[in-house]
Amino acid sequence: MARLRSSYVCQNCGAVTQRWQGKCESCGEWNTIIEEAAALGVGGASARRGAAGRPFPLEDLAGASRPEPRVATGIGELDRVAGGGFVPGSATLIGGEPGIGKSTLLIQACAAVARSGARVVYVSGEESTAQVRLRAARLGLASAPVQLAAQTLVEDIVATLASGDATKFVVIDSIQTMWSDAIESAPGTVSQVRGSAQALIRFAKASGAALLIVGHVTKDGQIAGPRVVEHMVDAVFSFEGDGAHAFRLLRAAKNRFGATDEVGVFEMTGSGLAEVPNPSALFLSGRDVGAAPGASVFAGVEGARPLLVEIQALVAPTSLGTPRRAVVGWEPNRLAMVLAVLESHGGLKLGPFDIYLNVAGGLRVAEPAADLAAAAALVSSVTGATLPHDAVYFGEIALSGSVRPVAHTTLRLKEAAKLGFARAFAPPAPRAEGDAPGAGVTTIGSVASLVALIAASAVEARSGGDGSGKGAPGGSKSGGGGAGEGAPAAAAYGTKPTARARTPASAG
Ligand code: TYD
Ligand code: MG
Repeated sequence: MARLRSSYVCQNCGAVTQRWQGKCESCGEWNTIIEEAAALGVGGASARRGAAGRPFPLEDLAGASRPEPRVATGIGELDRVAGGGFVPGSATLIGGEPGIGKSTLLIQACAAVARSGARVVYVSGEESTAQVRLRAARLGLASAPVQLAAQTLVEDIVATLASGDATKFVVIDSIQTMWSDAIESAPGTVSQVRGSAQALIRFAKASGAALLIVGHVTKDGQIAGPRVVEHMVDAVFSFEGDGAHAFRLLRAAKNRFGATDEVGVFEMTGSGLAEVPNPSALFLSGRDVGAAPGASVFAGVEGARPLLVEIQALVAPTSLGTPRRAVVGWEPNRLAMVLAVLESHGGLKLGPFDIYLNVAGGLRVAEPAADLAAAAALVSSVTGATLPHDAVYFGEIALSGSVRPVAHTTLRLKEAAKLGFARAFAPPAPRAEGDAPGAGVTTIGSVASLVALIAASAVEARSGGDGSGKGAPGGSKSGGGGAGEGAPAAAAYGTKPTARARTPASAG
């Protein structure tokens, strides 16, 4: 048997180098490389010793395989992300920041499966059984027949799971606390995380138990991230949320047994995680209808799920040398891009203004389709024109100033209609989804037509009486505006009318 050599392993990404380095060349993190005894893996040395391979029968692709029934937890949002329940013999990694609610979700899932009569084991390496019991009691699950253990040695855990009745559902909370006898490094190191996961996954495949592994994600990367495990498991879910808000999103980053675009939405309540079957209603619940300018509703899609959310913008004269641009819940780079397009193609002068953009409810929007909604909120704040309270916006803005079609147009419109939004401002639907826009859809082909449309409504509102609208950028209210239509209005608001800005909003 080869002498054990040590190698240097990055604790962030698992890359192995032959000598110590301050910076990992693979992932770029600093001070993450530590010395570990070369990992042989569980059973790696003994199984291979002097072995001549044994041939095994190969099978046809067309061979019969009967699909085993999935283990459904009865928690709809969780089962949906899993692809309709957990496949027997599969391993699922659930990652998320500490305190986000992983243990809470999984003890709820355990209780639900256990109540259906299956053997369910919850192994905690972080909390004592008393702590787990206490939590279960708070959640009103104390009577569920879940078998508990506070153990960290994988060999013992596997032996326990393998004895007695067949285990249907196992939770390991968390993989960072597990360690294996066969590996000579400290718990939490990449070798231990990888080795322990290997042993547990092998047990799951052999026994047909559905295995759920909790993995912590740390920001500084000092503790072995679950990254190395991601390749070994069948599915990777991430549990996300914002500490200041109660909602949580469960996403599938990888799923061998289902779609990865499913999203589960939960709300953290005093009695555990509650399912949110209608997330749009949750995100719009705090919205004051028709109040101030600077708010638009974005018809978004998270995964395959429509999600309506309010986007708020504030454009205010700056008192600083360098105007501030602050954005919460959206990409700062996308804001910069939308602002640049509004300046060069929409004719707005935004230079001397502080600009703030916020996605209400603590959601992080990543879709380019939010461009048009953000632009509408910004233009609304600039012009002082309140946007119609029953309208949604979506569309991707190109650098040329045109508004490009986005996927799932029909889905977005349906969700908007369901929540009582009668109007939508959107680019033409992509050809695949059919050409005819539905009722109430105003086709917006360019940023210029969006600006013209909103500025026109500002003029209408102003000529309608109050006259106390706030100053518009550029300051000049010269001319008082035309008849409230298109480009003249934009000109009235100190915007420099470009050739594009003269094109009236295309009708829908
Ligand atoms: P937990 O499941 O322990 O998080 P994780 O396992 O991801 O580290 O959840 C921790 C947070 O959830 C904690 O801050 C308290 C909150 N919580 C509730 O708000 N309601 C509840 O019913 C429970 C059990 C927890
Ligand atoms: Mg926990």
